[in-house]
Amino acid sequence: MDLINLFDFEAAAREKLSAMAYDYYRSGSFDEITLEENHAAYDRLRLRFRVLRDVSERDLSIELLGRRISMPMLIAPTAFHRLAHPDGEAATARAAAAAGTIMTLSTLSNCSIEEVAAAAAGPLWFQLYVYRDREATRELVGRAEAAGYSALVLTVDAQVWATRERDVRNRFHLPAGMRMANLMTSGLDSIEAHDSDSGLGRYVASLFDPTLAWSDLEWLAGISQLPLVIKGIVDPEDARRAVDHGAAAVIVSNHGGRQLDTSIATIDALPAVAEAVDGRIPVLVDGGVRRGTDVVKALALGARAVLVGRPVLWGLAVNGEEGVAQVLDILRKEFDVALGLCGCRSCAELDRDLLAGV
Ligand code: GLV
Repeated sequence: MDLINLFDFEAAAREKLSAMAYDYYRSGSFDEITLEENHAAYDRLRLRFRVLRDVSERDLSIELLGRRISMPMLIAPTAFHRLAHPDGEAATARAAAAAGTIMTLSTLSNCSIEEVAAAAAGPLWFQLYVYRDREATRELVGRAEAAGYSALVLTVDAQVWATRERDVRNRFHLPAGMRMANLMTSGLDSIEAHDSDSGLGRYVASLFDPTLAWSDLEWLAGISQLPLVIKGIVDPEDARRAVDHGAAAVIVSNHGGRQLDTSIATIDALPAVAEAVDGRIPVLVDGGVRRGTDVVKALALGARAVLVGRPVLWGLAVNGEEGVAQVLDILRKEFDVALGLCGCRSCAELDRDLLAGV
């Protein structure tokens, strides 16, 4: 089968993955309304393109937290890359580095913070879940900083874990011998099978800290020098508070439709968040990005960049590092075409006038 778009990669990955792994990656919570909506909301937006503007030279690069990256697409944090491929997150990081973009490593990775840093010379961010065990959390943060990661991405939409019904039915767990490498020192590294539930659901409920609050941003700032990116914002007032608390960037995210079901699609939440932030810090968005035109729409509505999650996992499952590289390359080419067809030569030229009726 020709793999010419990101949907092809999903179909091919499905053939390769165990049902438990595929369902885990693909699932949203409950009725999966937000999962669908993240994607459908992009498709509802129509572009009012401009013409006759000499688009022969196009620059896809952007500046983000003091660094220039080759395109406005980053790798979103996703867990357990060894479920997709034995090389795990190290392969994903190598592909991101080769593409000139940032990989965000999940707290729940199978390759350790240090292994991933050693595997790739490219820029890395570290996604953080705050554990009830604050010493274990502090250790994760210190290790990411020591290993040269350049930002902490704090996930704030997962203090209570939503039900992914497939994971419950599959009794989701990590296969024998597969560990969460960052949590071995604190002994929180395994996800066991449960007889009537998702093992991950049980893990999170007992270990993640549901008391997390705005004041904890000061706690984090006190234990790390790294810029703090807040992931999981959809409300403009929360975005303002994030800026006031010193966030270096926010990510408009609903956890890929995996947390509060029926929550607003991220592309629909983006304009109000961008307005509230008012250029003071970069706004990023994830969820539902599958086409170059989706990236154009996100940037036109105020995002500096998008993060891509599931398609990267499909690439990894299909062909390891090379598969991730292919996925990133397809998206880059589609974005480049869409940018030119909008009459723009750089990401900065994308603005709200391109979207009819928004
Ligand atoms: C992990 O962060 C997940 O959403 O499964």
